[in-house]
Amino acid sequence: MAQLTLPKNSKVKPGKTFPLNGNVTRKKTLQVYRWDPDTGDNPRLDSYEVDLDRCGQMVLDALIHIKNEIDSTLTFRRSCREGICGSCAMNIDGVNTLACTRVISDIKHDIRVYPLPHTPVVKDLVPDLSQFYAQYTAIKPWMQARSPAPDASERLQSKDEREKLDGLYECILCACCSTSCPSYWWNSDRYLGPAILLQAYRWIIDSRDENTDTRLDELKDPFSLYRCHTIMNCTNTCPKGLNPAKAIAETKKLLARKML
Ligand code: SF4
Ligand code: SF4
Ligand code: FES
Repeated sequence: MAQLTLPKNSKVKPGKTFPLNGNVTRKKTLQVYRWDPDTGDNPRLDSYEVDLDRCGQMVLDALIHIKNEIDSTLTFRRSCREGICGSCAMNIDGVNTLACTRVISDIKHDIRVYPLPHTPVVKDLVPDLSQFYAQYTAIKPWMQARSPAPDASERLQSKDEREKLDGLYECILCACCSTSCPSYWWNSDRYLGPAILLQAYRWIIDSRDENTDTRLDELKDPFSLYRCHTIMNCTNTCPKGLNPAKAIAETKKLLARKML
């Protein structure tokens, strides 16, 4: 019989607790995934009590408070604190989202914070997104046009052409969708995943781009696009309210029409 074993260091063990001292009226416990590659230890779940009167209202505020006031070893990414840069993407309360836009008071119980799932961890809450970025590079996310630009003018679009980019250009490449997609979990070496496919579609339907056929041809192998099985996790989790599953479906339609 096959013996299935978990990879080394995959079991998350109970970690340290950091209780609050004194009389605190509004407190919240965050259970945070910790892993340090330098120790060789298993990951652990540390528990921090936070005085809500001493930090802002978002989960990222609580993490920053923990780092500044309780445990400076906690490692996570963040930059804009406005839901724009995508760097604070993590799994909060079981859902991939942005820590800077997740409101603490919306979570009634202890808040569990993990890195984005099914990605290698660099340290604590920091995922290694090297493959994700390499896939983004592979779709050539820039305008490709052979014809010369009009003299002294930009390449203009009609109002309708421009509107086709709505719901696409807003993507901040946070990777919440791709790392919530079961197909991407199992085939991320060959399946591009919802975020990158949404970006690919963004250029496929841009009226100024002149490489549409090649862009579509590069997606027609069995894996890059067709591993999407319309499970919709991607659309349900996108913190920007975008619909990568629809972009994928539209791309499939364009490819089907092209192959007729
Ligand atoms: S589609 Fe949404 S979840 Fe996916 S990378 Fe873009 S912003 Fe993030
Ligand atoms: S709809 Fe496609 S891309 Fe989105 S989660 Fe499902 S399989 Fe993944
Ligand atoms: S810190 Fe930039 S999106 Fe959260």
